[in-house]
Amino acid sequence: MCGIVAYVGPRDAQPILLDALSRLEYRGYDSAGLAILNGKGVEVRKKSGRIQELASACQKKPVQGRIGISHTRWATHGGATDINAHPHLDATGRLALVHNGVVENYLELKAKLAKAGHKFISETDTEILAHLVGDAFASSKAQGEERLVEAVRNAIKQVQGTLGIAVIHSDLPGLVVGARRGSPLVIGIGDGENFLASDTQALAPYTNRVVILQDQEVVALKAERYDIASPLGVRSDIKVEEIENGVTASDKGSYPHYMLKEIFEQVSSIQNAFRGRLDHDGATAKLGGLNLPSEELRRIERIAILGCGTALHAGMVGKYLIETLAKIPVETHHSSEFRYGDSPTSPHTLFFAVSQSGETADTLGALREAQRRGFPCLGVCNNVASTIARQSNGGVYMHSGPEIGVAATKSFTSQVAIFTLLGLLLGRLHTLSASAGHEILQSIESLPEKIGQALSHSDEIKKVAQKYAKTKSMLFLGRLANFPIAMEGALKMKEITYIHAEGYPSAELKHGVIALIDKETPTVLIATQDGVYDKNLGSLQEIKARSGRVIAVAHESDAKIKGLADDILPVPETHPLLQPLLNVIPLQLISYHVAVVLGRDVDKPRNLAKSVTVE
Ligand code: G6P
Repeated sequence: MCGIVAYVGPRDAQPILLDALSRLEYRGYDSAGLAILNGKGVEVRKKSGRIQELASACQKKPVQGRIGISHTRWATHGGATDINAHPHLDATGRLALVHNGVVENYLELKAKLAKAGHKFISETDTEILAHLVGDAFASSKAQGEERLVEAVRNAIKQVQGTLGIAVIHSDLPGLVVGARRGSPLVIGIGDGENFLASDTQALAPYTNRVVILQDQEVVALKAERYDIASPLGVRSDIKVEEIENGVTASDKGSYPHYMLKEIFEQVSSIQNAFRGRLDHDGATAKLGGLNLPSEELRRIERIAILGCGTALHAGMVGKYLIETLAKIPVETHHSSEFRYGDSPTSPHTLFFAVSQSGETADTLGALREAQRRGFPCLGVCNNVASTIARQSNGGVYMHSGPEIGVAATKSFTSQVAIFTLLGLLLGRLHTLSASAGHEILQSIESLPEKIGQALSHSDEIKKVAQKYAKTKSMLFLGRLANFPIAMEGALKMKEITYIHAEGYPSAELKHGVIALIDKETPTVLIATQDGVYDKNLGSLQEIKARSGRVIAVAHESDAKIKGLADDILPVPETHPLLQPLLNVIPLQLISYHVAVVLGRDVDKPRNLAKSVTVE
């Protein structure tokens, strides 16, 4: 239930809605729909599948009208079918509604409405919401446009959960009503036309002037004006923001998939993450966005990192980097667990919310929880205009450029790069020597070249991928900072190939996972030469002793491991603290090549969304 766009103005709504919606596909892509007021009533088109399916349906049978709402979905309640796709209509069929969020008490509300004679055709919680607003509209005493605004306000009072909604009614042909509680909504201000969308990216080609709707606010949007009110009253101090008009059009160039392009872009994206942030004089890093002077940074006694999926794995590498360089204890949390858990927080803790998109609902919720407890929370985001970037008390942008492939790749290495800088900065404020700082800075500067070298093995890795593509299950093992790299490798494999994969610390193998080892279950073992190299070789032997096959991530120069492992994913050598940044690259590549062999939809794998904007 994930991306929303609404339009009201003098132009044909259908092409604008379809185009703007396609910029929100990262929020979900299992079905899409639109509703337009065509002069006689509400006309709806909905299709399961990608927005392209909806566009084809609209091309065959266009909908004429100058006001409409649209939606791209990531299913929560009810499967990805035409009927469950948004918009949903109320009982009269004259009101249409799209929704991003979850109505938690929908069963209770549904029972109440059913008792009053309402019939439902979908399995969604959103249809209940449409009927609720419809009922509130029917019983409202208000006149004109205020009637729909009041109906929305009264209906959402009965709802528990999160929502960002847009509503139109055929009795009010110039009005869109939007409301926000938890799920972001942005008003785009045009010239004689206005927009509503889940984020500013959707609006980039149309306007750079936006107003961010605050929580609990309702907006009455017309072509020439917009009025915003919350339960506390009408908002008069409206701040119109000018956003950088970054039309993030990104094409695949000569690459067959965005994911492969983005894997190869890491040579430059890593440079962007470091650019302007290396301080050779002080043998340290500069991170101005933290908004914290050195005295305050020195007082930090603990760091807590919040994230989901790949972003959390980057945070786990960050923990290792910061603890090693700065000797400051770091805790990492799944955002969703932190948000509702009782984990105690120590004073003088600095929080980081890590999120490529800056829109992940769980991470946003965790960030707000940390702030509610009185802690500063900084963002590590790629999307500059995102909700998390705005909500945080400062932070560090990744500057990775748009990441379109659903499986995160370049954003991961940029996040790890940022934690390297943070570790260096904090380390130099404590005990890290200038010479150790210089050594890290030098290694950082040689990283783009080394990443290029790691990428040059893509064809060899493709051959390994062809050999193992038919496997049903895989293990990924690594120790210390390479443990989260193993988790990330397993996540990539699951996300885009649908092969079951588990990431474990290498030595945990013997505590249960070893039962899975047989000829059919290969293990990817990260065994670059570091302090635990011999221990990793021990794990390798244990796997071989049980007829398991081993694919080792190893230094290009390591002749010893070539004689022991079945296959090698070669990587160049770098500073031991930066090695995980290189070790992840062959893991991205092997997942990519396996997915291609299996004919998977690499850039838009089943069931996933680039950013999950519901809990
Ligand atoms: C979704 C994606 C993952 C991603 C995670 C966090 O689950 O499928 O690939 O790592 O969200 O995304 P974020 O935008 O917060 O980094």
